Amino acid sequence: MAPSSDRMGRVLVVPLVLLVLCFSVEGVDRGNFKTCEQSAFCKRQRELKPSQSPYRALLDTLELSDSRITLQLINDNNKVRLLLELYRLQGNMTRVKINELKPLRPRYEVRDVLIADPPTKPMTVVSQDENGVVLSLGENEQRLIVSAQPFRLDIVEGPEVLLSLNSRGLLAFEHLRLRKDTISQKITSTFGSMWDSIKSVFSSKGDIEGAGGSDNAKNEGDKVEEGEEEEKPGMWEETFKTHSDSKPNGPTSISLDFSFPGVKHVYGIPEHAETLRLKNTHGTDPYRLYNLDVFQYELHNPMALYGSVPVIISHNAQRTMGVFWLNAAETWVDITSSTLTTFGKMLEFVQGSSEVPQTDVRWISESGIIDVFIMLGPTPSDVFTQYASLTGTQAFPPLSTLGYHQSRWNYNDQEDVKAVDQGFDEHDIPYDFIWLDIEHTDGKRYFTWDPQKFPQPKEMLQKLMEKRRKMVTIVDPHIKVDSGYKIHSEIGSKNFYAKNKDGADYEGWCWPGSAGYPDFTNPEMRAWWASQFAYDQYKGSMENLYTWNDMNEPSVFNGPEVTMHKDALFGSWENRDVHNLYGLYVHMATAEGLIQRSGGTERPFVLSRAFFAGSQRYGAIWTGDNAAEWGHLKISIPMCLSLGLVGISFCGADVGGFFKHPSAELLVRWYQAGAYQPFFRSHAHLDTPRREPWLFGPENTALIREAIRQRYALLPYWYQLFYNAYRTGQPVMRPLWVEFPEEPATFAIDNEYLIGKHLLVHPVTDEGAKSITAHLPGKGEVWYDVHTFQKHKGTQNLHIPVTMSSIPVFQRGGSIISRKDRIRRSSSCMENDPYTLYVALSAQGTAEGELYIDDFHTFNFEKEKQFIHRRLYFSNNVLTSSNLAPDSKFTTAAWIEKIIIIGATRPSSVSTKAKDGAASAVEFDFDSTASVVTLHKPDLNAGTDWTVTLQ
Ligand SMILES: *[C@@H]1O[C@H](CO)[C@@H](O)[C@H](O)[C@H]1NC(C)=O
Repeated sequence: MAPSSDRMGRVLVVPLVLLVLCFSVEGVDRGNFKTCEQSAFCKRQRELKPSQSPYRALLDTLELSDSRITLQLINDNNKVRLLLELYRLQGNMTRVKINELKPLRPRYEVRDVLIADPPTKPMTVVSQDENGVVLSLGENEQRLIVSAQPFRLDIVEGPEVLLSLNSRGLLAFEHLRLRKDTISQKITSTFGSMWDSIKSVFSSKGDIEGAGGSDNAKNEGDKVEEGEEEEKPGMWEETFKTHSDSKPNGPTSISLDFSFPGVKHVYGIPEHAETLRLKNTHGTDPYRLYNLDVFQYELHNPMALYGSVPVIISHNAQRTMGVFWLNAAETWVDITSSTLTTFGKMLEFVQGSSEVPQTDVRWISESGIIDVFIMLGPTPSDVFTQYASLTGTQAFPPLSTLGYHQSRWNYNDQEDVKAVDQGFDEHDIPYDFIWLDIEHTDGKRYFTWDPQKFPQPKEMLQKLMEKRRKMVTIVDPHIKVDSGYKIHSEIGSKNFYAKNKDGADYEGWCWPGSAGYPDFTNPEMRAWWASQFAYDQYKGSMENLYTWNDMNEPSVFNGPEVTMHKDALFGSWENRDVHNLYGLYVHMATAEGLIQRSGGTERPFVLSRAFFAGSQRYGAIWTGDNAAEWGHLKISIPMCLSLGLVGISFCGADVGGFFKHPSAELLVRWYQAGAYQPFFRSHAHLDTPRREPWLFGPENTALIREAIRQRYALLPYWYQLFYNAYRTGQPVMRPLWVEFPEEPATFAIDNEYLIGKHLLVHPVTDEGAKSITAHLPGKGEVWYDVHTFQKHKGTQNLHIPVTMSSIPVFQRGGSIISRKDRIRRSSSCMENDPYTLYVALSAQGTAEGELYIDDFHTFNFEKEKQFIHRRLYFSNNVLTSSNLAPDSKFTTAAWIEKIIIIGATRPSSVSTKAKDGAASAVEFDFDSTASVVTLHKPDLNAGTDWTVTLQ
């Protein structure tokens, strides 16, 4: 939940007013959130226009070790030196780090996001002269060119420039310095008489450049110039609304530009309520990355939302690349697309003056260092693999969490939970999880239950367990300041709270009233937090209770921009340095708690609202507090696609919309779309009318039931895709261009998408829609309507009529998808149910797919290789099931009850043959209008080798 904005003052007085106002305020209060102009460092940086860079590489400082090159850079305006480190990493990646050579104090370097020190490969100097150095990156004549003056980096492959850094001269590094008005005292004690001899070179209005570089000043020929960097407003203090930021370290921001020649399309940098393809930010604000609790967010603007992944992906028909800007401070990203006639004049071997598109991306962060990973692809799949090798892959969720989740703020009490649970049975609708929001707690004290409303939580959970269903309760990171609350007193006594700038425990206002914010950057704090999920600590919890972390940006109702003050402290680091990591750390500690409570056996499920690069390792995320509007339904697709591109596959949006009340039509359409998105949960604001699926009349109940049933039927496919995402880092939900990278017509499509490689979904997202136009990609491909088996050819824009029951989904010719067509109460009830194989033939009469089976909830698939992974392959009229993991060991009772071969001709007979068995005939039907052969009861085990032959 997000608080409303301008009522914070009132909240302090009358918390109840909050809820009323939450609901009456229309749209985001933009005034509550900074524009670039209002963010002092963004303003300073953006005033810097492309020009010749003042930085020069000092080639005589070059040092080459096996895998690393270091080189000093000097800013000729202020003589401050930077240290550049270049690494060639395994798998077509280059890492570029830039820090001050001798910072006054260490600058923050992001921790806990990379899964390991990325393995390096040797780099060699190809040539070197007074203009620069050429380094070999090994693959395909890829070279890294360091130009000395002005300093820039170019990555080239043969004659082609793939990417340039600082080609627009926007490298800007605000070095740490001492404050002018406090210099005399501080410097005298620090530097003594040495300082006295230096300071005379500064004019009265000049800054203290030499302080950061007092060593530099001693270097021959590096005289400190006067007046180069004037004091600008907001360098040492900044006020926004009623909040002041003390900025004890002064200006610390950094910036660097990247140019992608030949590129028109860039994607990524979630989270924004924006199209899949990122827009030009010329004339608007840059895209902002600063985790914030934004009340009723607006669509199509660059404002920051709840989470941040600083990864941008470029794509054209030849190549996909990525840039990962590893920085957790407030960050702004400018994107400029243009068409140039020439580029890279300094590269003699770049020929011609043909017109080339180019996209320029500029990153600006408030603190930290420049630490960039350049992922050179060349395919989309390579970029996903490269990024996964840095930050890890999607956690493999328990199967049940891929089912349907029923949530609202709030299910009132145990009776309510029971009634809703029964409602699903009465209306024959499957679901796996029912959710409890903040009202289930004893006064917003997380890890507790309201003694009146939820007096017997275990009894409630036990009843759900008997139906093989589960529950999620919310556990937020703001901790009620209350000496009688064990969680608070322990965190306090262990000194685990984040501090304010003066060193006292930071306190802010959130749901419980006055609240503390644990320092989740501290590993001891995280270990303690994890221990609180033990069954004997979290009273009333059981193994079918899972967790939801909300408000972990963190949300601070009375803080600047509804979050924590920048100068709040996490150990020796400011919130300024680590802000975007808070949500990731909360998610990490919570997931660890759920793993530990089972002794390391069970896979956890934790939903988080805030996130950062690497959050995929800890569970699911959702797109926060959306609204019951058609535009919000539409935007859920590009928002989840953008997250999938940067590693976070387990994404969903609140079905129905959180704020406001959906019409029956919108609700039905949202269920139909949500059933085909990775995380499928309905959720609603406290003040909205109830909206369980059966409250909109029998016709709509039937439509919603059908959408949810389609989800359950497809669970085997979803599960296999999540296994694949976990193993390989490939996204579950994919933009069309990922599978059709050479077809420019797909590059900007974001009203339809692929699930894995094989299912194309075009949900109906327009009110009153009578038809849709689906783009079916792929020259020579065929696509089958999954409901009618009608065959369509790619490439085409297919116009089809729709009714309220339509969910346009197409199976790609050449694929085999496993479903379970007997739908039951929950996914757990369906675990051993038989499979139906949908074999959709390509134009060449072939098809392939995979089937993955395990115990659906533990880590035994990993620890003991307890899983089945099969390849299904159809060719020359023979369907074969073969083992993709010969050393795995698991057996299943599940069998294949039906095989449906789509796009086939009538066989004269069909026989099956299990390994070491005799051939036996199988009954079949042939539908000549749809060209579908249906094999009945082939009597084959889902986990063994067999063949089916059509004659
Ligand atoms: C690296 O790039 C080359 C082509 O430039 C490609 O053939 C190879 O598959 C890539 N390797 C990885 C691990 O992405």
